[in-house]
Amino acid sequence: MDYNKFGLVNTTEMFSDAIAHKYAIPAFNFYNMETLNAILAAARETHSPVILAVSESALHYMGDSMLMGMIMGAKLTTRDCVALHLDHGASVDACKHAIDIGFSSVMIDASQKNFSENVELTQRVIEYAHKHNVTVESELGVIAGTEDENTSSKKSLYTNPNDAYEFVKRTNVDSLAIAIGTNHGAYKCKSEFKGLRFDVLSEIVNLLPKTPLVLHGASRIPQHLVGIIEKFGGKMENACGIPMDDIRQAVSMHVAKVNVDSDSRIAFTAGIRKTLATNPKMFNPRDYLSVATDMVKQNCIDEIKTVMNSANKLK
Ligand code: G3H
Ligand code: 13P
Ligand code: ZN
Repeated sequence: MDYNKFGLVNTTEMFSDAIAHKYAIPAFNFYNMETLNAILAAARETHSPVILAVSESALHYMGDSMLMGMIMGAKLTTRDCVALHLDHGASVDACKHAIDIGFSSVMIDASQKNFSENVELTQRVIEYAHKHNVTVESELGVIAGTEDENTSSKKSLYTNPNDAYEFVKRTNVDSLAIAIGTNHGAYKCKSEFKGLRFDVLSEIVNLLPKTPLVLHGASRIPQHLVGIIEKFGGKMENACGIPMDDIRQAVSMHVAKVNVDSDSRIAFTAGIRKTLATNPKMFNPRDYLSVATDMVKQNCIDEIKTVMNSANKLK
């Protein structure tokens, strides 16, 4: 299916503008109508380009036709500057499948494989994707985390800048996810977390000044939202994210895409917990889901304005 039919764009122009003007394209994960609406409303209200990220498990949860039906229902045009992106595709087949159903961008995550296998899998995805004008992200180095089966890894292996240079030279990949100390999930401040390695980032940028770089695991884990979850019966002890200033600094140093999933999950859950706990008689899901949707939207607006610097960047 041609993604142009859905009013989607690939990431080429969004990344070149982001690099030229030192901002990042937000990549927000979604998994249902509410989170999709929240992200699109936030992007529209702030006039920001946006990447709608769907993990393999989220695609499985929504189903191909339900997902693409929702994207069709969003009535996007290319002026909205929205890409639909497969997040952490674990295989060439998963990437091909996403392209076949209308995704405009895919990630092949072969970061756990050895260097040459990673190169080879990336080349195979690029060969198919570029025929369909779909852009490709790869990952080098391992971003630690516990929540995603495909990416789970106990420690963070920083990206080696020379490997990154060699990888891009061999594959000509459209964007590269790098490991500089971010990690997936809501518990980023375990003992091994020592802040971001801006020295590694700066070496990579010097070697690859034209390659859009991607930060995964960049949620801030807003403490006011964690507080709401805990106040209304949830348990998120020691939940902790990447300091906002660190992400802002990375964005100012050429990072062109910043991935956020956990923050939206937390905002959504906080909205539901608070609304149900304070309205014990409420049982219409539309009532509490609309509060949760609005909390995700407000969090996305906040990230767009304060972290990504991508507000008012639509042409
Ligand atoms: O980086 C991974 C995302 O947070 C997706 O996680 O597979 O649980 O949807 P998920
Ligand atoms: P967070 O868990 O920090 O939101 O990371 C999301 C991510 O990297 C999705 O690919
Ligand atoms: Zn990720």
